[in-house]
Amino acid sequence: MNVTVFGLGFVGLTTALGFAHLGYKVYGADVDDARKKILRGGKLPFLEPHMDEILTAHLDKNFFVTDDVKAAVADSEIIFYCVGTPYGTDGSADLSYLFAAVDTTIDAVANEKFRVLVTKSTIPPSTTAEKIIPYVQKKCGEKNFAVANNPEFLREGHCWEDFIGADRIVIGTDDERARKILTELYAPMNVPIKCVTPSTGEFIKYLSNTLLATLISYSNEMSQIADTIGGIDVAEAFKILHMDKRWGNCSMTSYVYPGCGYGGYCLPKDTNALLAQSRVKGFEPPILKNVIATNDARPATIARRIVEGLDASAVVGILGLSFKPLSDDVRDTPAARIIREIFAAGYKNVVAYDPAANDEFAKHYPDLPIKIFDAAEKVYDAADVMAIVTAWDEFKKIPALGNKKIIDCRYMLRMRQ
Ligand SMILES: NC(=O)c1ccc[n+]([C@@H]2O[C@H](COP(=O)([O-])OP(=O)(O)OC[C@H]3O[C@@H](n4cnc5c(N)ncnc54)[C@H](O)[C@@H]3O)[C@@H](O)[C@H]2O)c1
Repeated sequence: MNVTVFGLGFVGLTTALGFAHLGYKVYGADVDDARKKILRGGKLPFLEPHMDEILTAHLDKNFFVTDDVKAAVADSEIIFYCVGTPYGTDGSADLSYLFAAVDTTIDAVANEKFRVLVTKSTIPPSTTAEKIIPYVQKKCGEKNFAVANNPEFLREGHCWEDFIGADRIVIGTDDERARKILTELYAPMNVPIKCVTPSTGEFIKYLSNTLLATLISYSNEMSQIADTIGGIDVAEAFKILHMDKRWGNCSMTSYVYPGCGYGGYCLPKDTNALLAQSRVKGFEPPILKNVIATNDARPATIARRIVEGLDASAVVGILGLSFKPLSDDVRDTPAARIIREIFAAGYKNVVAYDPAANDEFAKHYPDLPIKIFDAAEKVYDAADVMAIVTAWDEFKKIPALGNKKIIDCRYMLRMRQ
């Protein structure tokens, strides 16, 4: 069985290398020529631990970064779509990249060989049944395709371990042949494979992400209640909460902890996409709506904490720009929202540093007039007050630099040492 993967971002590259690692021949396609050039040179286009070694091991052996999509699709039985599904109008998911890739696939082949088209991108429940299957059926004529979805649960910063050590595989399809082929594809991973209807498969991904978002918003709201009441050691309270044996020492507790609000590519867009989809179908979900509202309000709350008592000429230091440690991803990062709030409050001098995301941040947010330094110590020297906005381990050394005020927005200096 050969595989073609459309989209070589966090999910697509991991998927392509994962199947190459399992011994399959894998073609990787992307519309971004710069990204393909970097990959062909054996480098990663983003920061992701361990993936560079895996890329080196498989590049041009059984993983091929291709421009010849036609040949790749012709030689493959399984086509994965791992393209972006960003915010569309009213928070709904923009499916245009997905349909462009589906079009490319269908246009690429003329024969009747059976192929499975698998959406790994996160798409709202009912998209496969109501949009993709009718679209493919209408466009295909005699061509022989089945459609499935296969949501991905990996976390950035842990892409490889999460893919290769997956706890479950979800296959959403009503097509028996697709189910059989995908079950066979994943069999070497030796993990539970759950075959469900297409809409159930799509829903499970949102069930997961909206729960994580809910835990985060709950924790942030609780910390705000605690701050309002006063006299409460928030970090200690959450630390003791985690000692409840019903958590079983699980890493899920990391989502039950206050911080700067959820950010990154997935939780903000996925919570909004499910809200939009639920509304379209006729239900206004109060919890989900307020999870989003709580998160949207968090950057202003954090910014107020940072600038409290400062005069307008003060220099504010921001430590951490990526949306989480071990990642250079700055998409929807809380740091950008907090910095925007600081400027909106009238402060004009902001300096910042991130161990990995300085360049990405400058590229994504050229409108934010901040000065970015290449070391945390330089931020310390320049700033009147510092805020830890991303919980990079190296920020634990900051208190040792001197007596300047540090706002630990991630509650990491006590919790994570
Ligand atoms: N990033 C995560 O942690 C994560 C986890 C699980 C699921 N997801 C979902 O997976 C999907 C991809 O996310 P990502 O973070 O990998 O995105 P990404 O932005 O890192 O990568 C998407 C890639 O698709 C490429 N692309 C766009 N249109 C294309 C086309 N027509 N043909 C070929 N390539 C095309 C882009 O150039 C880009 O390289 C999204 O739906 C996301 O919600 C992401």
